[in-house]
Amino acid sequence: MATITLPGLIDVHVHLRDPGATHKEDFETGTRAALKGGFTRVIDMPNNSEPTTSIRALKKKKRLVAGKALIPVGFHFGTNGKNTSSFLAAAADEQVFGLKLYCNHTTGEMLIEDLGLLEKVFEAWETDKPILVHAEGVQLAAVISLAQLYGRRLHVCHITQAIEVELVARAKGKGIGVTAGVCPHHLFMSGEWREKLGPYALMKPPLGTKKDMQALRKGLTSGVIDIVETDHAPHTKKEKASKVPPYGVPGLDTALPLMYRAVDEGWFEEKGIRTVLHDRPRELFRIPKQIKTRVVLETGSFKIGDDGYETKCGWSPFDGWDVPVRVKSVMLEGKTLLTEGKIVGRK
Ligand code: DOR
Ligand code: ZN
Repeated sequence: MATITLPGLIDVHVHLRDPGATHKEDFETGTRAALKGGFTRVIDMPNNSEPTTSIRALKKKKRLVAGKALIPVGFHFGTNGKNTSSFLAAAADEQVFGLKLYCNHTTGEMLIEDLGLLEKVFEAWETDKPILVHAEGVQLAAVISLAQLYGRRLHVCHITQAIEVELVARAKGKGIGVTAGVCPHHLFMSGEWREKLGPYALMKPPLGTKKDMQALRKGLTSGVIDIVETDHAPHTKKEKASKVPPYGVPGLDTALPLMYRAVDEGWFEEKGIRTVLHDRPRELFRIPKQIKTRVVLETGSFKIGDDGYETKCGWSPFDGWDVPVRVKSVMLEGKTLLTEGKIVGRK
């Protein structure tokens, strides 16, 4: 059977839930899901129940990662607009790759809607490390302006709407330091999947229209959108089945095979997979190279979920989808961590 070799992939946008919600995921199960999906480095988001908005919370996460993670885990520092005095120390930490800013409502308590506070954040984050934003529609226009005014690098997370692709294209055209990421669920599903899957297709930002989905595919192919990020956001089946289901879907186990499905469907070029899941994430977040690291895929006919999931939540909105590859082995810095699809080691 033919095989494909790739470098170790990088997911710059995951919610591994540790500490605080380890019934959904923890640094061990989350990094197992990453390995199964061909990722050898992930960067964890700060919206834990104890948010990563202080150096103390950051240190706690670093301690937990050291004892549990199978692959290197970096962090994005969080902000509620009131912790700017810790920015200098956070930005100097080599395990911190960016600052995450929430401009729209989602899981967690870090929403900033006040323009004055937003401006303070852009002023105080005096580093070349990017500010990552959850900013939909008009909020996106506002943060692009702030990034330009303060000369900060801005990364637009999980871009979803056609108009947002247009805003990013225009900003790039004007030489503003803006980049963007898109999630597999927004590339493969539009709003009608909410009816099919109910709470299992509920996430923020929500699934868009078919037109949005086409604009995202085109944006990714043309390079207006720089990277694929999973926004791996596991919640238990019980939580999803509850009266008020939480937002988010897992994505680490499934992103890579889905991108090969995109190649089969004819809207994405195979050589772009390495670009959007390794080369560009590395460049954007100045991520160190991992030597003697590679991911080997076997090609064939596979179904998502057929060999189970490593994510603790144990489900995927793509369950049962046909994909043309499966991760066969992963070597990280000379050590085999996964072979014949089974996890056999840790870094
Ligand atoms: O759907 C989402 N879930 N979107 C987010 O921005 C946060 C995430 C989560 O943490 O559950
Ligand atoms: Zn997220």
